[in-house]
Amino acid sequence: MTKLRVGVIRASTISQVEHIPNLLALGDLFELVGVADPSATAREFVTATWGVPCHETPDRLMDQKLDAIVIGAPDPLHHELVIAALARGLHVFCEKPLCYSPDEIADIMAARDRASRVVQVGYMKRFDPSYRHALTVLPGTAETLRYVSVEVNDPDSWPFIAHSRTKFSNDVADALKNETVEKKRAQVERAFGKPLPKLAFHGYTAAYSSSLVHDVNAVHGLLDALGVPDGEPVGGQIFAGGAGGQGTVRLLGGQALWTMTHLTVPKLADYKERISLYFDDAILELEFPSPYLNHQPTRLTVKKSDGHTLSVSDIRPGYKEAFVEEMRGFWAAIVKGEPVVNLPEHAARDQKLLIGLTRKFLETLKE
Ligand SMILES: NC(=O)c1ccc[n+]([C@@H]2O[C@H](COP(=O)([O-])OP(=O)(O)OC[C@H]3O[C@@H](n4cnc5c(N)ncnc54)[C@H](O)[C@@H]3O)[C@@H](O)[C@H]2O)c1
Repeated sequence: MTKLRVGVIRASTISQVEHIPNLLALGDLFELVGVADPSATAREFVTATWGVPCHETPDRLMDQKLDAIVIGAPDPLHHELVIAALARGLHVFCEKPLCYSPDEIADIMAARDRASRVVQVGYMKRFDPSYRHALTVLPGTAETLRYVSVEVNDPDSWPFIAHSRTKFSNDVADALKNETVEKKRAQVERAFGKPLPKLAFHGYTAAYSSSLVHDVNAVHGLLDALGVPDGEPVGGQIFAGGAGGQGTVRLLGGQALWTMTHLTVPKLADYKERISLYFDDAILELEFPSPYLNHQPTRLTVKKSDGHTLSVSDIRPGYKEAFVEEMRGFWAAIVKGEPVVNLPEHAARDQKLLIGLTRKFLETLKE
């Protein structure tokens, strides 16, 4: 078995809870060579907990003769880190959102093609066993689709990582934090061709690009399986001071509608993420647990009726963990040349839709 020498950029929440332990558990496929993080506390914790050497900068980590890199860094750093890794000839896994602007994603595609390397985006839901199974049991067609609904209530990670081994501290230099803030501002301006008002900026970067992007990607996969073309954004609202993001997309020229809402509920220890597809004679529903709860199955149900008799199938295709499976997929794409499941092309399509929703919100501000 070919073992890939891999590094992880940033000892972030996602890296400490998922990528570092998962890469170590997949020791037959990966050798985790090191982690880079600007926080001395995080570096000491990672080495003490997992025995993995740490480096202060991504450059020092990438000097360690790696085959591949996993990027779990703040969103505004993705563009420069992916490009730097490709320039060194590394295969790249990067967390979502790949970038805020489709132009930046185009830069990445060009760099990937020049380097002939794999770039995989961290849409782990595409590896969820229930999601994969849903694609094979869709109880309708493009002709019978009427409505797609996405509803998420999300308190962020605190209730779901308290039992995990994590340590964070605020010892990142202010200069580095300020640089990241400035990069974010410039990238969003590049995405829209102009600066955004504060609420729209917050909604686009947080509710839409950080959260709803998962559901946009997952729904795109379901619509692809039905042969439904990309829809037209017709509405977008950012509300609750930016803690809520909503969007409406017309599908099939108005035959069907897709609505989506993500709401942060910071003080409620409950997470629900539901994607429902309504056909004229059936409903398919996926109910995802908090992503940080490994091996907790996503509930897949299909409702159908025979006259007055309703039947509900509760389908559980196994306990494989999406975050682990996405790393197996990354390995298989590099070593076996299997197709990359989440391409930058998909990320560009997702960001385009989220930009469309934000533009709809901006229109309502003018009225
Ligand atoms: N796939 C998923 O479900 C999922 C879940 C959570 C996060 N993510 C993604 O993972 C990435 C990391 O997110 P997170 O919430 O785990 O990160 P985090 O905020 O927990 O960690 C950020 C890391 O970068 C460093 N850092 C913090 N502030 C910084 C700054 N201003 N400038 C530079 N470095 C800074 C810190 O040392 C820390 O290790 C993001 O792209 C996020 O969207 C994905």
